[in-house]
Amino acid sequence: MNKFAVVEQILQNKPFTNPRDEGHAFAPINIALCKYWGKRDEELNLPMTSSLSISLGSKGAYIRVTINTKPKDEIYINGELILNTEFVKSLQNFLDLFRPAKTFYKTTITIDVPIAIGLASSACIYAALVQALNHLYRWQLNRTRLSILARLGSGSACRSLWKGFVEWRVGTSPDGMDSHGFPMGHVWPELRIGLHVINRNKKLISSREAMRRTVATAKLYPSWPTKTAKDLVTLKQAIRNQDFKLLAETAETNALTMHAIMRNAIPPIIYTLPETIQARKTIWELRNTGTPVYFTQDAGPNLKLLFLESETKTIREAFPELEIIAPFSNPENAQVILVDENDKAIDTKEKLIAHQQGHLHRAFSVFIMRKRDNSIEMLLQQRREDKYHSGNLWSNTCCSHPRPDEDIISAAQRRLQEEMNCFADLYRVGKFQYFAKFANGLIENELDHVLVGTTEKESFLVNRREVQDYKWMKLSVLLKDLQHNPDKYTPWLPKALQIVLASSS
Ligand code: PMV
Repeated sequence: MNKFAVVEQILQNKPFTNPRDEGHAFAPINIALCKYWGKRDEELNLPMTSSLSISLGSKGAYIRVTINTKPKDEIYINGELILNTEFVKSLQNFLDLFRPAKTFYKTTITIDVPIAIGLASSACIYAALVQALNHLYRWQLNRTRLSILARLGSGSACRSLWKGFVEWRVGTSPDGMDSHGFPMGHVWPELRIGLHVINRNKKLISSREAMRRTVATAKLYPSWPTKTAKDLVTLKQAIRNQDFKLLAETAETNALTMHAIMRNAIPPIIYTLPETIQARKTIWELRNTGTPVYFTQDAGPNLKLLFLESETKTIREAFPELEIIAPFSNPENAQVILVDENDKAIDTKEKLIAHQQGHLHRAFSVFIMRKRDNSIEMLLQQRREDKYHSGNLWSNTCCSHPRPDEDIISAAQRRLQEEMNCFADLYRVGKFQYFAKFANGLIENELDHVLVGTTEKESFLVNRREVQDYKWMKLSVLLKDLQHNPDKYTPWLPKALQIVLASSS
C-alpha cells in the first residue's frame, strides 16, 4: 500500500473545499525511552517494534499553514524562508499527500530546537503540520487518525500528538491502521529531562538510512525486538509505580543497546562523539557518588538527561549549559496558591503536585454569556483530549488558577485571552468548594471563584494546546443536557453554574 492510499482511506470524503484563512497547531517534541529503530515497511514508516516516549510539554513546534497565493510552496522556519534543503523537500513530499490540484502552501514553523541534529525536531513538526492541515480544512479528525497521518511524515511523529507518556504500538495490519500512538495518561510532575547539546551540526546520516542499514546488515539486529519488548513492559511498570531508577536505567540501556547495534552495521553507524562519551562518563560519575541521573541518546551525539526535580541543583552544577524541561508542568501556570477554608493564602505549590496531593487551592471558573433572541447563551469550551484531567469534556468558558502574585480578575482575564482569545470585563458572583478524584489519580480540591462576563465576538481563534473545541449553547438546552448526559461535562460545571443562576435570580 502507498501513502496516498492511506491518506485517502483516512480522509474518505473529507473535502478540501472551504478552507479557513489559516490552520494552526502546536505539537511537542517527544523523546523515546524505548526506541523505534527499524522499519518493516519503508513507505508507510511501519516499525519493527513498539516504542514509548515522553513529550516535552510546551517545547516543540508551532505551525501555521495557509493556501499560498503564489504558485509555489513556501516554508519558513523561525522567520527564515528555507529553500531546497533535504528537510524542505521531505516536507513538500508530505504536503503532496494533501494537495488538491494547483494548491500550494505557505507553512510557517516556529520551533525552539535546532533541526536535524537528533533532537526529535521532525517528529513535532509533522505532528503539528497534520493538525494544522486538519484545522485548515475543518476535517475534525481524531488524534488517532492524525497520529497515523503524522507517521507517514516521520515515524516518531505519531507519538507527538499527545502530552506525557505515549506508546506507539507496532500493530500488525499491512496498511498500518493499528500502528499509532496511545497516550498513557500518567503524570509525573517531578520528572525532568535535560537537553545536553554537544554538537549543532546536521547529522551526517539520516535516521531513515541508518535504520535501513542496521536492519539489513547488523548481525545483532535480530536481538533488538526481544530487547525492546522486554524494556517496554519494564518501562510501563516503572511509570505505573513511579519507580524512577527502573525507568531511567531501562531507558539508558535501551539507548546504549540501540547504539551498539548500529555500530554493528556494515559499515558501522556511529553518532557518538568523544564529547558524548565524556558527558556519559560525567553522568556515570555523578551516579557513583549518589546522584540518580541517567541519559538517553537518539540518532545524534546529543544526550537527554533523566533525573528528578530534587537533583536539579547538583545536575546544573555538573552541566551548566543544560536546558532543563519539566515535561508535566505548564510554565504559564506552574504554581498555585494553597488556601485555608476561608480562602486565606497559606502557601504555594507546583500545580501538578498540588493536584496529586489534593491540597485545597484557589481557582476560578469563567462564564462568558450573551443574549440572543431573548434567551441566554453560554460559551462552552471542550477541554483538549490530553489535558491532565477531564480531557474531552465540555465545560464553562475557561477555568484556571491565579498565580501567586495575581488577583483573581486579572488572572481570569489573562487565561480567557490565552485559552479562548477573548477579552471581557469580568464580575465575581460567588465561590464554592469542590472536591473530585479522577481515574488517573489526580485530585481536584478547589476553592473556586465564579466569574461572569459577556462578549459580542461570535467566533474565536482558540488556543489548540488547551482547547479542543467551543460552542455557544442556549442555557435552557445546557440545563437539560446536563441532566440527560452528565458524563459529557466536567464535574464542576453544574456546581459553578448554580452559583451563576443564583446570582441572576
Ligand atoms: O522518526 P524518525 O525517522 O526521525 O526516527 C526516530 C529515531 C529515534 O529518535 C532514534 C528513536 C525514536 O524512537 O524516536
